[in-house]
Amino acid sequence: MTYKVGILGATGAVGQEIIRLLHERQFPFSELKLLASSRSAGKVQSYGDQSWTIEETKEDSFKELDICIFSAGGSQSEMYAPVAQKHGCIVIDNSSAFRMDPNVPLVIPEINPKAALGHKGIIANPNCSTAITLMGLYPLHKMFGLKTVIASTYQAVSGSGAEALQELKDQLNAWSNGQTIEKNVYPHQIAFNVIPHVDRFDSEGHTREELKLLNESRKILQLDDLAVACTCVRVPVFRAHSISVTASFENEIDMVSARKAIQDFPNVELVDDPDNLKYPMPINYSEVVPCAVGRMRKTNVIKNGLSLWITGDQLWKGAALNAIQIAELLHEEGAIR
Ligand code: A2P
Repeated sequence: MTYKVGILGATGAVGQEIIRLLHERQFPFSELKLLASSRSAGKVQSYGDQSWTIEETKEDSFKELDICIFSAGGSQSEMYAPVAQKHGCIVIDNSSAFRMDPNVPLVIPEINPKAALGHKGIIANPNCSTAITLMGLYPLHKMFGLKTVIASTYQAVSGSGAEALQELKDQLNAWSNGQTIEKNVYPHQIAFNVIPHVDRFDSEGHTREELKLLNESRKILQLDDLAVACTCVRVPVFRAHSISVTASFENEIDMVSARKAIQDFPNVELVDDPDNLKYPMPINYSEVVPCAVGRMRKTNVIKNGLSLWITGDQLWKGAALNAIQIAELLHEEGAIR
């Protein structure tokens, strides 16, 4: 079985990774439709020896498609997902538009694959930091029962899209050439800085990104009482997010079992050998499938407490890869057409 596949937001930072991973993972597509805004319409995108003309997204863009991965932001998803749904095209949505909708499954294939099969036309991909954090925490949750998460994120600029990646490069160049540093995407200079602000603030001082970790973790893990405190921070890293987590569990932690739980979980690696200076870092976990866990140690500050550090490629596990894994899951279950 082969499918007619679309990518909405094909020219963006995530869209480009989707094109690459569909090929590298040999997803069975017979046709690929690359959709973006009118700004990109007519431009040519190539991969290997193939090329496609980018099309402007319109209501009838989805008519012939079996499945479309959306990565063009929340407002495009809100506008076009119901249209695609009407045409019988399954939407895998990278935006936050539908994640908390009770009719839309929010899926990490290694964690809650069955949820995907109950979809009604739209399946949501989790927030990038949430996906990577849960890849590290879920194996521990299964063994010890997760109760509380206290986290700080170290989020790469490519998570804000292609323009933000360019902004960091431009600022680094300007700094090394003694020129004035310009900023457009972030409210402050990101080169040689960290910005404790990702997404909009609410009236209580949380950012929406921080609340995503709370709400999406509860939904994915089906843990309505999970307590989460989080500070999301943008750092001058090109690619791959890291998350510092201290968590408390229902049951006492046994470190041998905790390490084994991480090692045995698919698409997670244990990199935890401080004596030999081994711990996960973004430069080692960019453009790779697995996420990594390290710096694991017990802590007495909360009951049954464990601190750890998780790193993963947010353009892959936090977006493009997770979306394609969902498509692969539907394909394996014969659930696309
Ligand atoms: P375009 O390149 O034509 O603007 P990023 O997250 O890297 O900023 O990428 C955003 C993606 O969303 C791009 O592919 C962009 O296309 C696409 N996009 C933005 N606005 C629209 C729109 N109005 N209709 C369709 N695609 C859009």
